Amino acid sequence: MGGVQSALNPAGPQAGDIATLTWWFLGVCTLVYVAVIAATAWAIFRRRAASDDSPETTAWLARGVVGAVGVTIVILVALTVSSVVAGRGLTSATGSEPVVVDVIGYQWWWEFQYRSSNPSEIVNSPNELHIPVGVPVGIRAISRDVIHSFWVPRLHGKRDLIPGIETSMWIQADRPGVYRGQCAEFCGHQHAHMAFVVVAEPADAFQSWLAHQRRGAPSPSNADQQRGHDVFMGGACVMCHTIRGTTAGSRIGPDLTHVAGRQTIAAGTLPTSREHLARWVVDPQAIKPGNRMPPNPMSDADLQALLTYLETLR
Ligand code: CUA
Repeated sequence: MGGVQSALNPAGPQAGDIATLTWWFLGVCTLVYVAVIAATAWAIFRRRAASDDSPETTAWLARGVVGAVGVTIVILVALTVSSVVAGRGLTSATGSEPVVVDVIGYQWWWEFQYRSSNPSEIVNSPNELHIPVGVPVGIRAISRDVIHSFWVPRLHGKRDLIPGIETSMWIQADRPGVYRGQCAEFCGHQHAHMAFVVVAEPADAFQSWLAHQRRGAPSPSNADQQRGHDVFMGGACVMCHTIRGTTAGSRIGPDLTHVAGRQTIAAGTLPTSREHLARWVVDPQAIKPGNRMPPNPMSDADLQALLTYLETLR
């Protein structure tokens, strides 16, 4: 129950409502189950008595059956109503200035895009969603290929990402923390490796994160970094990725402007480290077979320079 991805360990009001509802359903259904088993056992093991066929006993049993049907109807209606009321509550958000994030699903990674009226200030944060604590955050979700499903069990229930149709929900985290999310709709070979993290932080920390993300990449500041930059811009990398502040502007793969500052690479598959980046760059198919990134054989000197450059993208 205490897991990083447990719906029974809620960290916000929406997940709290779902957990409460779950416990009520479990409690009521357990009581019904125990009562039914007890009644069945009583019926099986009791001794037959001569009075069983008397009109009094028949009338008593009839009242028992009618009573049980009545209780069943009351319980079913109560559970249905509580479920509908909880569902209504989940879709209504409160708060004056909610943050809105566009969530875009790809096979097999997530784009989290923070809107801005100034196009140069739109922030892309692949596979890492940052939210301020204590306020509702609007999720506007869409898919660019197949159906995916956005699920952060500690914050909310699942919401499908459907090609061509925007779906929306509100999430809220009541305390700072890192919450794991996972694609919850089978979407192909690497469905299981389509995870992400939600970093919930106090409002000012969130704002400074956002301000930092808006900045472009720093220019190379030594010969090693320059060589890595040139490997990136002269090789296959530039054909799929964006690094803002450079000439790399393709939108096929994740935006790498702040790749080294993120907790994971390959959509939650590996923790970010120089070694993992090296393995990923050289042979991504060995880590996540079927993903769209091709192998990139290169000399060790080029690779080390490229890694040094990538590590400056914080
Ligand atoms: Cu995306 Cu499963």
